[in-house]
Amino acid sequence: MIQERKKELTAYVQGLEKAELHIHIEGAAPADVWSKIAKRNGLPSPNQDVALAQRTVSSRDLAGFLGSYTRLTRMLLTELDFYDLMYSYFLSANQQNIGHVEVFFDTQSYRNFGLDPEMVIKGLGRALDEWCQKLGMTGSLILCFLRNLPVDQAYMDLELAQNYKQWIVAVGLAAHETGHPPTLFAPVYQKARNLGFKTVAHAGEDGPPEYVWSVLNDLEVDRIDHGGASIQDPKLVAEIARRKIPLTMCPISNVRMGVVQSLELHPFRRLMQAGVRVTINSDNPAYFGSLIDNYVDTALALDLGQDELSAIARTSIEASFKQ
Ligand code: ADE
Ligand code: ZN
Repeated sequence: MIQERKKELTAYVQGLEKAELHIHIEGAAPADVWSKIAKRNGLPSPNQDVALAQRTVSSRDLAGFLGSYTRLTRMLLTELDFYDLMYSYFLSANQQNIGHVEVFFDTQSYRNFGLDPEMVIKGLGRALDEWCQKLGMTGSLILCFLRNLPVDQAYMDLELAQNYKQWIVAVGLAAHETGHPPTLFAPVYQKARNLGFKTVAHAGEDGPPEYVWSVLNDLEVDRIDHGGASIQDPKLVAEIARRKIPLTMCPISNVRMGVVQSLELHPFRRLMQAGVRVTINSDNPAYFGSLIDNYVDTALALDLGQDELSAIARTSIEASFKQ
């Protein structure tokens, strides 16, 4: 019975026009892509790190996950490596009938290991242009600052991003939230806005509602990534709904990373009912399931019907930064 329902929902979601707005490019690469890249670069097999990242997922350990995830980034050395990450994600997105993607990346992980950040941007951007055209999709990049690293580096990144506005539509804030409040980044966000970039930030994933207030009021974001902790503060929920700020939620990620106990307890539905513009996303699909998995599993756990799924998909397109 549940298998039947799952099949029916999967076919339904496959047919929906939808956008993916919260996906980290390094977390989209499956093991075979990492192996290909490691081999080409003459590096030892990445299988152990991939397995370790998967283990952190089963032990619901966000910090551990981000650690092994970062170790995998050491495999990336050339423009072609970044091109391949993007190309592999585009094929998967196209198979899921995702028409528009906004992809998170950062340059700090690479800059700090001596790689040219422009090479990172060019590899991703070139793949974006080529595969959007080949597959009839649209997409852009979101440059994430890493909240655990010095803000000075964020200014350097922003300087660089100005030369790549054909690809980079927004700036974001990622990495482990706990102990890294958003306020430090307020001036660099203001500068980004003045330069014409849209702004988003991870908040309320493992961080408290105060961090969500801060990205609303101090960073003045156009969208909030995750935002689940808002449910603890009814005034905050009402304010997000009033300002019509979309949330890019990632339900399976939240359960696998242990910030929500189960999909059944996920605040997604309660936020939707409170009038918040919620969207469903995969975060790191190689570890947390595809976008379609996220729609279907969330629908099954929270009893969302086809009309609600269709409205969520529509919100994803309306909440995108597509011109
Ligand atoms: N970067 C990749 N995955 C992330 C997550 N779940 N939270 C914050 N930063 C991330
Ligand atoms: Zn994320």
